[in-house]
Amino acid sequence: EQAEAKALYDAYEFTAKFYNYIMLNTEQGRPALDYLRSRGMNDRIIETFQLGYSPNMRDKLAEILGKRGFDLALMEKGGLLSHREGSGYYDKFRDRIMFPIHDQKGRIIAFGGRAMGDIQPKYMNSPESPLFNKSRNLYNFHQARPQIRKSRTVVLLEGYVDAIKVWEAGIQNGVASMGTALTREHALLLRRNADEALLCYDGDPAGQNAAFKSIELLEKEGFHVKVAWLPGGQDPDEFITQFGGERFRREIIEGALTSTKFKLQYIRKNFNLTDVDGRFRYIESALKLVAELDAPYQREHYIQELASEFPYAADNLTQQMNGYRQDLL
Ligand code: UTP
Ligand code: MN
Ligand code: MN
Ligand code: MN
Ligand code: MN
Repeated sequence: EQAEAKALYDAYEFTAKFYNYIMLNTEQGRPALDYLRSRGMNDRIIETFQLGYSPNMRDKLAEILGKRGFDLALMEKGGLLSHREGSGYYDKFRDRIMFPIHDQKGRIIAFGGRAMGDIQPKYMNSPESPLFNKSRNLYNFHQARPQIRKSRTVVLLEGYVDAIKVWEAGIQNGVASMGTALTREHALLLRRNADEALLCYDGDPAGQNAAFKSIELLEKEGFHVKVAWLPGGQDPDEFITQFGGERFRREIIEGALTSTKFKLQYIRKNFNLTDVDGRFRYIESALKLVAELDAPYQREHYIQELASEFPYAADNLTQQMNGYRQDLL
């Protein structure tokens, strides 16, 4: 067990160096390097995140791991190689940009591999293994932890490239859940290091739905939650590429909404506010959300916002909201 884990850590470390070497020093790695540069990733980023390229060859990695004395059956278990009876071991990742995934201690435990063209799946990830569990591990946590602890705040992202771009933009407390939903295990791990969570998911409907779910989960563990709202369906990487890191920090991060404000905006899309009945139904839904807030002054805050937007007295809104509060108790 222990010996297997040790061999896997060694193999992943070796493999990351191999992928990185291929990208930086060989002809066949050139398109991968150009691809990363075209996406704004410079040499410093490549080094910091140990990015690389898995060559488009049948069994180059298998051959090298074999020569180095690694147990190929174990490498298959660890997701680096595949195996077919009669045809031996061959490389699992081919012709992909490789993102090493680290554990809390900074040891590589898996890879995410991105295709450069429109090949599906866009990302291939290492399978779950004794070392890698997507519902426990977070991308970039090992590098972000000091800043998470210092600021007591964690920035939550969806993707590898988002975590990298946000880091380059000077925000060094960002981690990515690698496309999967945030889990209670993630929340507990983060809670030991932070009190505030800032959700910065993709600005598309999928990202907003995910944010809605993550709010619940995080607040249950005692986090203060804020939500950074990306305009136009962009993700953090796209926003930073288009507008720069400075504007990302100033407009998106500093402009983050309270979780309640986010929820109000989120449900609002479902109602036609030009129609009286649509307005009534929005206000009812909004007041139900406000009724869930524990702090009286916070309920007052949102009541006042609604009263200033719609032609109804705060007293009437409060009365209605108190009715919903009774239902909750
Ligand atoms: P996205 O589809 O938002 O991709 O998935 P992205 O991060 O913006 O990728 P780029 O910018 O096109 O390169 C978010 C995350 O979900 C996981 C990956 O971790 C990805 O970063 N994912 C996505 C997968 O694991 N497999 C997929 O096929 C797609
Ligand atoms: Mn086999
Ligand atoms: Mn997405
Ligand atoms: Mn995305
Ligand atoms: Mn993206």
